[in-house]
Amino acid sequence: MCGIIGRVGTGDAIDTLLTGLENLEYRGYDSAGVAVQNGAGIKVQKRSGKVSELKNKIDASVLEGQVGIGHTRWSTHGPPTDANAHPHTDSTTDVAVVHNGIIENYIELKEQLAAAGHEFTSDTDTEVIPHLVQHYLDQGWDSERAFRTAIDELQGSYAVAVMISGEHVIYAARRGSPLVIGMEDNEFFLASDIPAFLEETNDVIYLEDGDVVVLEPEGYRITDLEGTPVSRETDTVDWDPEDAGKGEYDHYMRKEIHSQPTSLANTIEGRVADGEVDLEEFPAGAFADVDAVQFVACGTSYHAAMYGEWLLREANVRTAVHRASEYDSSVGPIDEHTLVVAVTQSGETADTLAAVREAKARGARTVAVTNVVGSTAAREADDALYIRAGPEIGVAATKTFSSQSVTLALLTQRIAADIPDAAPIDDLDAMLESLSDLPDQVESVVETSRAGELAERYLESRAFFFIGRGLGHAVALEGALKFKEITYEHAEGFTAGELKHGPLALVTEETPVFSVFTGGGDEAVQTNATEAQSRGAPIVTVAPDDHQAVGTGDAHLSIPDTHPVWAGLLANVQLQLLSYHAANELGRPIDKPRNLAKSVTVE
Ligand code: G6P
Repeated sequence: MCGIIGRVGTGDAIDTLLTGLENLEYRGYDSAGVAVQNGAGIKVQKRSGKVSELKNKIDASVLEGQVGIGHTRWSTHGPPTDANAHPHTDSTTDVAVVHNGIIENYIELKEQLAAAGHEFTSDTDTEVIPHLVQHYLDQGWDSERAFRTAIDELQGSYAVAVMISGEHVIYAARRGSPLVIGMEDNEFFLASDIPAFLEETNDVIYLEDGDVVVLEPEGYRITDLEGTPVSRETDTVDWDPEDAGKGEYDHYMRKEIHSQPTSLANTIEGRVADGEVDLEEFPAGAFADVDAVQFVACGTSYHAAMYGEWLLREANVRTAVHRASEYDSSVGPIDEHTLVVAVTQSGETADTLAAVREAKARGARTVAVTNVVGSTAAREADDALYIRAGPEIGVAATKTFSSQSVTLALLTQRIAADIPDAAPIDDLDAMLESLSDLPDQVESVVETSRAGELAERYLESRAFFFIGRGLGHAVALEGALKFKEITYEHAEGFTAGELKHGPLALVTEETPVFSVFTGGGDEAVQTNATEAQSRGAPIVTVAPDDHQAVGTGDAHLSIPDTHPVWAGLLANVQLQLLSYHAANELGRPIDKPRNLAKSVTVE
């Protein structure tokens, strides 16, 4: 949460900063601000609200300058007011700071600085940083030493960028929050994530915890906290700059739902050969030592992890899926033969990272299944398997869920092939053959979906229920999560059979029940849907047109015929569109739902 950007180069920085912040808004959108050096000291403009509001109010004429930093906030300490917006400065505006993370010892530091005469104007933890840097500058120290010493005093997590008046330099450091450098001719960027500067460059350096950076128009230096140079490799990311924009769509979410044929094709490419799963990261035998597999994840990634867990159980592997935030108390016995698979789109979710660290501390082997190359999860886990979905900007995850589920389906078959007493699915050939059709089938769902019509028809309902069995249960939970995230309406997902054990008390003619049929346990789903229908609930079947349940429902969302392992993913595309259209009808801020952030980097 929170996105930071910095830029040094020639020409004015302001446009690049604002574009960068717009592309980082998925990380938070409570307030936004920028600071630039304009030859007459540091100028700061910031306000509560979204980047677009900042952009409308900004007085560009006073924001001339080649060096600048910017921030978009997801509040942790203090409400989203103008005063709490970043950048924060010391009392003289000689030092400006943007920060992502949490400074755990800020109260102590604030008391010390206040006792020394520093005056604070915000409720944030961040504000201690500019005052601390200023405190050391006041001792007559040079800027770099003042910065390093200040950073050394911080406890907690940070990606931080600092400007000092009169210097065409950005000082930055990371510990526990992501930070990447982008490089272009005579221009350098720093950001929480690559989409911030993707329109400018594809050449990046992923910084590591403990790195300190000095960024100047002529180049950059990376050292550790003591000043010893460290070398970090340059990567070229193959993301298209268009991936960072909305293109022809009104919302990123719509664009990302529609781009699933392409993202899925990328996920699958080169990973199936001669009727077998072929993962270059994990050749045959890579999992021969494994005797149990745990999945850990949050939010949408947890639902994809349920997919993986279900498939491994079918393959006779001891397996469990854990909510990452509960992992330390639910982990159970694990050892070096346990594989812990962390599923995380961003690779930065604090709860998931904590679970990875816990698993490693207990001796387990870890794999990160993630979308973001060089993310913390990818670097901290023993291995990384990328889902290759491309950047996802909408806060509600869509294309990454389908890519995660497919990646996990492939990984589980690879694992099952290596473990004695386990076996890949009986009809693996058929499953993999159908997989090659999945991108086109998703396209046909997107093109022919009637989800918009149904969203309108049921818009006035009191609540929205989603049911399924097996893989369909994961889809029901994901359908409900998507719906509540972006419509703010009450939505719940259940295993179909559980409906009669409590939730049925909520069922009325004002609670449509979306019933997911995947080709596994469908008769039971149909029975449970009928039980709800008898109590007045409208039933919407999500199934192939020729499915026997279709005639018994009140409305239908169609999916193409496919292998049962993939049917749920096609059903999920229908449910994504349903949520999208309902939220659109209700006029919700679809890409930036209230109170949420795409990447939650605090526990
Ligand atoms: C946040 C987002 C969710 C996401 C979850 C896990 O809560 O709002 O959409 O599913 O984090 O994120 P991750 O990056 O670990 O997949």
